Amino acid sequence: SQPLRVPALSLVVLVGVAGSGKSTFAARHFRPTQVVSSDGCRALVADDPRDQSATGAAFEVAHLVTRHRLANGLLTVLDATSVEPAARRPLLELAREHDVPAVAIVLDLPEELCARRAAERPDRAVAAAVVHRQHMELRAGLHGLRAEGFAAVHVLRTEAEAAGTAVDLVG
Ligand code: CTP
Ligand code: MG
Repeated sequence: SQPLRVPALSLVVLVGVAGSGKSTFAARHFRPTQVVSSDGCRALVADDPRDQSATGAAFEVAHLVTRHRLANGLLTVLDATSVEPAARRPLLELAREHDVPAVAIVLDLPEELCARRAAERPDRAVAAAVVHRQHMELRAGLHGLRAEGFAAVHVLRTEAEAAGTAVDLVG
């Protein structure tokens, strides 16, 4: 398949349920310092990436790091589920504040596949019911992403597409 063309200075927002392969995709296509993850930020503030009580603080840190990176003119990839409009809104605001395009890369893989992977995660298993709720949220919001303010929306729908699609940084 065609590589995704992503502006070299942009805010890339990965969108996908638990187990959809966001962190795997981010690690394959971007440098570790370019990736700001909710799990990583949760670990920074709470040691335990499963500690859900740390979620608010973790996103505060994620947004703060993103703000400083964009101010420094650095490509930033947000690795969190971001299936809810409320999770995407502050990211779109940050991109707009810094006059940087926001690009959504949606990992819209089959729910069963994601649920299986999420349940099998050794470090942090996620229940199928949670994946189901996230999947419903994702599908409900998918067609509204452009209207939310994303400059481009790329949707990867199969395992082969997710694994076989390259990212070209342009400009
Ligand atoms: N995985 C896999 N094959 C792929 C992609 C992912 O087997 N092509 C596995 C990973 O090794 C991991 C699990 O599926 O154990 C979830 O992948 P991950 O990239 O961690 O998914 P995320 O979307 O980042 O999940 P979360 O939201 O829970 O962080
Ligand atoms: Mg992840």
